[in-house]
Amino acid sequence: FFCSQASSHGFLECVTTSVPGQLLFTRSSPSFASVLASSVRNRRFLTQSTVRPLCVVTATSASHVQAAVVCGRRHGVRLRVRSGGHDYEGLSFRSACPETFAVIDLAGLRAVRVSLGSPLEGAGAPATAWVDSGATLGELYYGIGKASDRLAFPAGLCPTVGVGGHLSGGGFGMLLRKHGLAADHVVDATMVDAEGRILDGDAMGRDVFWAIRGGGGGGSFGIVLSWRVMLVAVPPKVTAFTVHKSVEQGAVDMLTKWQEVAPALPDDLFVRVLVQRQVAKFQALYLGTCDALLPVMRRRFPEFGMNRTHCKEMTWLQSVPYIYLGIGATVEDILNRTDPVDATSSKATSDYVRHAIARDVWEEIFATWFARPDAGLMILDPYGGNMARVPEAATPFPHRAGVLYNIQYMNFWTAAGDGAAQTAWIRGVYAFMEPHVSKNPREAYVNYRDLDLGANVVVGNVTSYEAGKVWGEKYYKDNFRRLAMAKRQIDPDDYFRNEQSIPPLDAHE
Ligand code: FDA
Repeated sequence: FFCSQASSHGFLECVTTSVPGQLLFTRSSPSFASVLASSVRNRRFLTQSTVRPLCVVTATSASHVQAAVVCGRRHGVRLRVRSGGHDYEGLSFRSACPETFAVIDLAGLRAVRVSLGSPLEGAGAPATAWVDSGATLGELYYGIGKASDRLAFPAGLCPTVGVGGHLSGGGFGMLLRKHGLAADHVVDATMVDAEGRILDGDAMGRDVFWAIRGGGGGGSFGIVLSWRVMLVAVPPKVTAFTVHKSVEQGAVDMLTKWQEVAPALPDDLFVRVLVQRQVAKFQALYLGTCDALLPVMRRRFPEFGMNRTHCKEMTWLQSVPYIYLGIGATVEDILNRTDPVDATSSKATSDYVRHAIARDVWEEIFATWFARPDAGLMILDPYGGNMARVPEAATPFPHRAGVLYNIQYMNFWTAAGDGAAQTAWIRGVYAFMEPHVSKNPREAYVNYRDLDLGANVVVGNVTSYEAGKVWGEKYYKDNFRRLAMAKRQIDPDDYFRNEQSIPPLDAHE
């Protein structure tokens, strides 16, 4: 990856003419370290050797973002954009090599404006929301759920995840099978481009608007300020349930069967699995009552032995803290922007499974990988349902029909450790899984970013398309080429770039 030289002094002088001093934190500011760390979710990127920014601009208006872009272009200072700070490789606030860059932190731009639409069935205006990139998913869900208990938004489970990064990469959670991705529901957006202009969905053009809905992977096309999203209808009561099965209790058989049953269940039912040590935890959300759920589970998955005591009925909004934060958490808790996992470091990567993995392979996974002292976890999210009905090219996110489930591999360590053993576990299990997961390309989910999949190479001050294909086709398959052409339209000089940003491609190349 190519590291640039820049004029720090000129940039800072330029920015201070448009951004109030109290919103600008340079390395000499007493609060620089705490502002930089404020939304960092992975301590791995807060060490002495982390390449830190020249400054953090905590924008509170679009004009601050525009000024940072204009000054950055003029003085050769690149920008990293941070909404919620959850990037698995920290690309929103650090650089992998020693270059001069500034962070635009959007946490101060976080309004959520819900419009309930018109109640007229069919002919009425749909319910929508404008949400700023710096809002968290928790703030978005809370705003929607408080406006109506019949509306929801299909996005990730973790309430502290930022809207900006999440929608840029796809975004999925417990409503995935019924309603698809967060990015599938974006109907307009405003973005500051590399010229410092504010563009809406029409002004940015069809290809660029297509690209930012899942193909940003963050920081490739511009800085998205705000998103207009369609909301989805939910019933007044949903039902959550969790079932734990140890290997001794038959977890291997259950998991083997789950692979084919879960993606083919009715769209209203989402049953994911968290595998850790010798236990598979089945965690589910049903868009309906326990009475309606029980016959479905008894018919499709009698091994669960499900009965009324497993069910927990609640509103959709209540299901958010219940599923992610646990029993006893309140809906107000999803407004808390700090997360209990903040003190840990982590490493993650992902796979897609298109053919069920054989029972003996699962046996081996439990007996070897999950028996190790430094083992992490696997999260298996079933696809199918609405995901399978959206064509691969409809959005940049290509993992649609034929995908049984997504695997996320994750491992954690505390400040006392160096993470070597946990990272080795991730890399080892990823190598082991190769014969059992998708091939040509081996698909991966960009929101579970992993620089082990490849990093950009800059040739002649422009990111190389050919080199980018190594990681780009894993995240985007054939859509990578169209993304690169959209990049060429909106940012031909490749100002917005990072270790895994989309390279510009001329349509004739
Ligand atoms: P962050 O601010 O770090 O940004 C991520 C990337 O997007 C960076 O490259 C950044 O530059 C860019 N970016 C951010 N804002 C931008 C903007 N306004 N305009 C342009 N580019 C921008 N995913 C999922 O699908 N389902 C889930 O349930 C979860 N759960 C989850 C839990 C936890 C604890 C973590 C750490 C992560 C997840 N994720 C997830 C992954 C999450 O969706 C992914 O990390 C998002 O990119 C995070 O978005 P943030 O805005 O928080 O990150």
